[in-house]
Amino acid sequence: MDTLRIDRRVVLVTGAASGIGWEIARTCAAEGATVHLADISDAVHDAARQLTAIAHVCDVTDPDAVRALVDGIVESSGRLDVAFLNAGINGVPSPLQPGGAIDELSFAAWQRVLSVNLDGLFHCLQQTARVMKTQRAGSIVVTASTAGLRAEPRVSYPYVASKAAVVGLVRQAALELARFGVRVNALAPGPVVTNIGGTAPRSESSTAAWEDSIPMRRWGRPSDIAGLALLLASDASSWMTGSIHVADGGASALTQVSSSELPGPE
Ligand SMILES: NC(=O)c1ccc[n+]([C@@H]2O[C@H](COP(=O)([O-])OP(=O)(O)OC[C@H]3O[C@@H](n4cnc5c(N)ncnc54)[C@H](O)[C@@H]3O)[C@@H](O)[C@H]2O)c1
Repeated sequence: MDTLRIDRRVVLVTGAASGIGWEIARTCAAEGATVHLADISDAVHDAARQLTAIAHVCDVTDPDAVRALVDGIVESSGRLDVAFLNAGINGVPSPLQPGGAIDELSFAAWQRVLSVNLDGLFHCLQQTARVMKTQRAGSIVVTASTAGLRAEPRVSYPYVASKAAVVGLVRQAALELARFGVRVNALAPGPVVTNIGGTAPRSESSTAAWEDSIPMRRWGRPSDIAGLALLLASDASSWMTGSIHVADGGASALTQVSSSELPGPE
């Protein structure tokens, strides 16, 4: 299908050294796009080498570094057609874990997650939109989360709050950019096996509890998200903007009432 093609497009993926970002970068490179991988980790060099793509070490929380990244891409590749704004972290306890309750959570932990997931996205959105507005063309695809669409006690406060804010940012930017020919959409994955929860294996009970909340009875894989990402990058989604696209094995279609799991006085 010709409209799904992204060959010869210039693509940026942030948070591309690992997980969902790496798989999106791999898919775009396999489809013939010129792919720029950006990540705070030096591992981005290895990741890019595997794809014959271009690596950039960049911390999305640094506005000057993000501006330099985007200017550098335009200088070397001539334009920027697609931006996957995907870098994100969690690493903070959920309200079900010690230290994660609203009255226990440190402000530093709150700020750490917000600075990457929300401020970092703002910097990336600002710089990529600046270029695409001038081009009068482009597709920006942001990685949100199903945790931004509803409360999720198994995930930390700042993560849920940042991803809910990401959804608002995507919709607002889509309105502003629509008449400039720039589309802005979000992916909202459910639980996907990546490094975001740290590289230590999850407990069997936690894995099983998550699986129990997924009608397809398995965690997602980055490859479950990459096809949707390709769709949103390509002309196959030419009339989609400001929309949030869920891929979660059916989890958000399932009404789960399990308030017994929530903490509370005896
Ligand atoms: N894994 C899941 O269950 C899941 C579900 C929904 C949404 N997401 C979102 O998907 C995105 C990708 O996460 P993932 O699950 O692939 O995790 P991951 O940890 O495997 O990959 C995230 C990448 O982002 C990079 N990164 C972190 N901070 C950065 C910074 N300041 N600047 C630049 N790069 C930075 C990391 O080095 C890493 O390579 C995130 O936005 C995450 O919130 C993940």
